[in-house]
Amino acid sequence: MQCSWKAVIVLALASIAIQYTAIRTLTSKPFQLCPLPSPQNCGLGGQETDPPFERGGGAGCEDYNYFTVNASRKTHILVLATTRSGSSFVGQLLNQHQDVFYLFEPLYHVQTTLIPRLSHSRNAADRRVMLGASRDLLRSLYGCDLYFLESYIKPPPTNHSTDKLFRRGASRALCQQPACDAFGPEDANVEEGDCVKKCAALNMSLATEACRDKRHVAIKTVRVPEVGDLRALVDDPRLNVKVVQLVRDPRGILSSRIETFRDTYRLWRIWRATGRRPYNLDLSQLTVVCEDFLNSVTTGLAHPHWLKGKYMLLRYEDLARNPLQKTKEMYDFLGLAMDKNVEEWIHANTRGSSEPSAKHKFGTVRDSAANAESWRLKLSYDMVEYTQAVCEKALLQLGYKAVRSADELKNMSLSLVQDKTFVAFL
Ligand SMILES: *[C@@H]1O[C@H](CO)[C@@H](O)[C@H](O)[C@H]1NC(C)=O
Ligand SMILES: *[C@@H]1O[C@H](CO)[C@@H](O)[C@H](O)[C@H]1NC(C)=O
Ligand SMILES: *[C@@H]1O[C@H](CO)[C@@H](O)[C@H](O)[C@H]1NC(C)=O
Ligand SMILES: *[C@@H]1O[C@H](CO)[C@@H](O)[C@H](O)[C@H]1NC(C)=O
Repeated sequence: MQCSWKAVIVLALASIAIQYTAIRTLTSKPFQLCPLPSPQNCGLGGQETDPPFERGGGAGCEDYNYFTVNASRKTHILVLATTRSGSSFVGQLLNQHQDVFYLFEPLYHVQTTLIPRLSHSRNAADRRVMLGASRDLLRSLYGCDLYFLESYIKPPPTNHSTDKLFRRGASRALCQQPACDAFGPEDANVEEGDCVKKCAALNMSLATEACRDKRHVAIKTVRVPEVGDLRALVDDPRLNVKVVQLVRDPRGILSSRIETFRDTYRLWRIWRATGRRPYNLDLSQLTVVCEDFLNSVTTGLAHPHWLKGKYMLLRYEDLARNPLQKTKEMYDFLGLAMDKNVEEWIHANTRGSSEPSAKHKFGTVRDSAANAESWRLKLSYDMVEYTQAVCEKALLQLGYKAVRSADELKNMSLSLVQDKTFVAFL
């Protein structure tokens, strides 16, 4: 028995590795990234106009001197989050900025291609493959090489055109010219569904162009476990990566996942309904969140030299309480000026917009402000107690107060989010 088990695992791993190697081989030439498009680089021999496929030769890349790039260059923003921690909301805060090209979860395609069945694999080898591929893809996307994504999209795009890009409509720049002709500049806020319906299949050449038209690139992901996994990218002198790590009270995450992922979290719902913990509950659904938070935040707050000026910790609850102020802090950290689109979006999508006419078009609204602690009315005390035991260190580190009784849990006049300032390392 044991033997065949191992054989199955080995086979599975081998097939993942082979797939990945195949993808890397087919993808194109040896991986290479040329100077990033930015105003300072415009003079470099007109490379800006060459399609990325033609760039690979290397000739144009050699004159590139890393040390000439200065602080006014392109910023590569990564929102590092986990599911149901408010990452769509933070993504929107970046997506709304007119100088930012935003992509919603491009690593989805890597995961579905490389580990289709083990959607949240915790196997160390799977994780390494996934991370390696993810870093390569992120590096390409930050360089606006959207063609690199094509090898992960199923079915494969034909003639560099696809209607299968995950959540294309969540990216403003992909719903506007040049990527889409259906909407003009007067259509300020195109709804995600409208974008998908009215824009033709996405032409990757035009998407690349849309990316190059913007000064900065922002990517949101819930598929990188911790900031330490990003070191190779952060250290890459061709990039200017800044990581915004978004965290949320794990008890709130659990509650929100139970509501959202009804199949995967079925046993937790049974627990909640019956008051009895199912013996076969998948505990890792909780422990992984807390371990990843703890590891990542410990790394980030230890201020290692490689993260200097490149890491910001943001608690979802603080953002929900003070969206405008926290957003400004985030933009300060990124070194960008906040624009009026962002401010308007915040006004339209947070507490201020309780008038019935305000259309709650983003899923993010339901979750914001007043709802940040509503999980307390949804989870039973024994579930909370259990979570507190499993996540004790993470709660303590992030400033989330544990409750000691059901009364305390349900008493909403007492916030469980302690005031805590996380000193940025500039
Ligand atoms: C940095 O870039 C800006 C904008 O192009 C330029 O004005 C400035 O002189 C550059 N600084 C250095 C040290 O190269
Ligand atoms: C791709 O483009 C070629 C040449 O323009 C054309 O012949 C072919 O039909 C196109 N394929 C698809 C699937 O559109
Ligand atoms: C995509 O856009 C490019 C650049 O405008 C164009 O040359 C190409 O024909 C387009 N591809 C498709 C499939 O429409
Ligand atoms: C809720 O907590 C507040 C503050 O600790 C306390 O004054 C109040 O009596 C509590 N309410 C209930 C119903 O326990």
